[in-house]
Amino acid sequence: MIVAATPDAVARAAAHIRAGGVVAFPTETVYGLGADATNALAVARLFEIKHRPSFDPLIVHVSASEELPALVTAIPPAVHELAARFWPGPLTVILPKTERIPDIVTAGLPSVAVRVPDHPVALELIRRAARPIAAPSANRFGYVSPTAAAHVAEQLGHRVEIILDGGSCRVGIESTVVSFLAEPPQLLRAGGITLEDLEAVIGRVAIPTARQPGVAPGQLDRHYAPHTPVDLVESPAAVPERDRCGAALLLVQPTAYPPGFARVEVLAEDGELRRAAANLFAALRRLDAGGFTRIYAVAIPERGLGRAIMDRLQRAAA
Ligand code: TXA
Ligand code: MG
Repeated sequence: MIVAATPDAVARAAAHIRAGGVVAFPTETVYGLGADATNALAVARLFEIKHRPSFDPLIVHVSASEELPALVTAIPPAVHELAARFWPGPLTVILPKTERIPDIVTAGLPSVAVRVPDHPVALELIRRAARPIAAPSANRFGYVSPTAAAHVAEQLGHRVEIILDGGSCRVGIESTVVSFLAEPPQLLRAGGITLEDLEAVIGRVAIPTARQPGVAPGQLDRHYAPHTPVDLVESPAAVPERDRCGAALLLVQPTAYPPGFARVEVLAEDGELRRAAANLFAALRRLDAGGFTRIYAVAIPERGLGRAIMDRLQRAAA
């Protein structure tokens, strides 16, 4: 059930988490499906509700960087620097885990992913529960991530007792995931904090090229995918005229396009990538519900937030 995230409702949700329950809650990136990260049984239910394969590890959410030492064995200086600069915020770090985190959370890996979300409801929920909260995005596995409470209800409403409504997510795409298990650190998922921002603080961050097994589990090629087929094209004109009829065109920024498309969506009329990111998943859901033959998404340069937007479009199209 969707409930407004009043202090009372957050307190009830926190009690539910302490009792081993599962709660959907807003973060600045996307809605999460949370359970007590120290309760293996609660986390098992979470995997089940989401239909998530057990080889895909979860992110553990804490309310402040002071909670990190209990969860990881050592914190390199670069993580301190990033935490000071970007937490609370859309950055997840991967470090060797302590015993406090059960194996099910990390899918058996000796490392754990941790972040401090930048949303008052998420922070209050964690503080009230007085537990680290393990939370994947609150969608069915493989589908587009939810950026509004209604998106969660559509897919998981019948399986989640409490969906805290905190409005639309400000960032709209998931956190950036950086692993500190290697030197230099590795960018495992592009997200709300850009590679350029990271490198300005800690220097070079490597981008693993080949899919290295065990390095980025869960980084499946096809993910964030609507049911309608998605094609990534270089320009609107690249879509042959006969294929435009019945198809939707998805533009990140205003771009000239030829006639014939059944619908055209522009993610950011002002060309701002932040706005485009915030609108991306809702637009994919909307188009998916529109009964189009195909969604043609037009590629953008992989710079700044463009890298994360392109990553999501590529996975939707895979
Ligand atoms: O913005 C976000 O990160 C959202 C909100 C709810 O916080 N959460 C989210 O969770 O996107 P999820 O489960 O959809 O994505 C977690 C990603 C996956 O790609 C997973 O493979 C990776 O983090 N991950 C988690 N633990 C890992 C680990 N120990 N090693 C490598 N990758 C890990
Ligand atoms: Mg997800």
